[in-house]
Amino acid sequence: MSDKHKSLTRVDGKVALVTGAAKGLGEAIAQVLHAHGAKLLLTDVDTAGGEAVAARINADGGQALFLRHDVTAEEQWIAAVARAHAHFGGLHILVNNAGLGKAASAEDETLEQWRLVMSVNLDGVFLGTKHGIRGMKQSGGSIVNISSIEGIIAEPSLAAYNASKAGVRNLTKSAALHCARSRYGIRVNSVHPGYIWTPMVENHLRIVGDVAAGRREIDKLHPIGHMGEPIDVAYGVLYLASEASKFVTGAELVIDGGYTAQ
Ligand SMILES: NC(=O)c1ccc[n+]([C@@H]2O[C@H](COP(=O)([O-])OP(=O)(O)OC[C@H]3O[C@@H](n4cnc5c(N)ncnc54)[C@H](O)[C@@H]3O)[C@@H](O)[C@H]2O)c1
Repeated sequence: MSDKHKSLTRVDGKVALVTGAAKGLGEAIAQVLHAHGAKLLLTDVDTAGGEAVAARINADGGQALFLRHDVTAEEQWIAAVARAHAHFGGLHILVNNAGLGKAASAEDETLEQWRLVMSVNLDGVFLGTKHGIRGMKQSGGSIVNISSIEGIIAEPSLAAYNASKAGVRNLTKSAALHCARSRYGIRVNSVHPGYIWTPMVENHLRIVGDVAAGRREIDKLHPIGHMGEPIDVAYGVLYLASEASKFVTGAELVIDGGYTAQ
């Protein structure tokens, strides 16, 4: 195999902004992008967790900077993109990962909780996509929006989450078409994980009952026999972030152990 083929998933010298990077999928995505050569602006509202992730990457010889950043605030997006340019000299990869899950049916959901879920999961991805495009249209780049299988299928108790993640799926396609038509050299894709063992899932199981029993039930939902690990999603993100996927835009990458194939 030629060196060119060996290096297609490297992201050496690229600057990546990862939201929700303090834990869970965001932390794994940051670690995998670092391992493949990226410089990282890590953001989250969890300052202690985010700074700890950045410190671990820097201790491993990487270049990571943490910035407290609430994805629902447009002025903080403008500041985050400006920081990537000022500190690292550009922006090439944006992973809109920050999100939260709240369970309620369409009948029982409160408008307040609906708006909270929408503001983080959908407004946050919209603002990131908007300012990410503006911040990378000179250089080109890749925007990866973390949706969910819950943006493709639905559950009776996830009305707002389902709606927000479905919104991310089609926002992604619209932005991909805009960037393609504008010849910006920016690709925009969505990722749709099945259940992945992260603090989000663990906390949810703790609220509804027994964590170990809940984990076994969730494992059974996946034809492959178990839920996923954060690194399973992180490698999908690396593919979409790198030149290995240079002909892929407006696509939805499902990483779900067969969940939605049933
Ligand atoms: N874990 C799963 O099973 C699963 C499956 C499909 C999709 N997802 C999606 O993957 C993404 C990451 O999920 P996770 O499981 O790692 O969750 P997590 O709760 O473990 O981590 C999410 C991170 O986002 C941060 N965050 C929350 N609100 C924020 C805001 N307003 N601004 C900035 N940061 C904010 C949190 O502080 C946290 O560090 C989410 O978008 C989630 O919906 C997760």
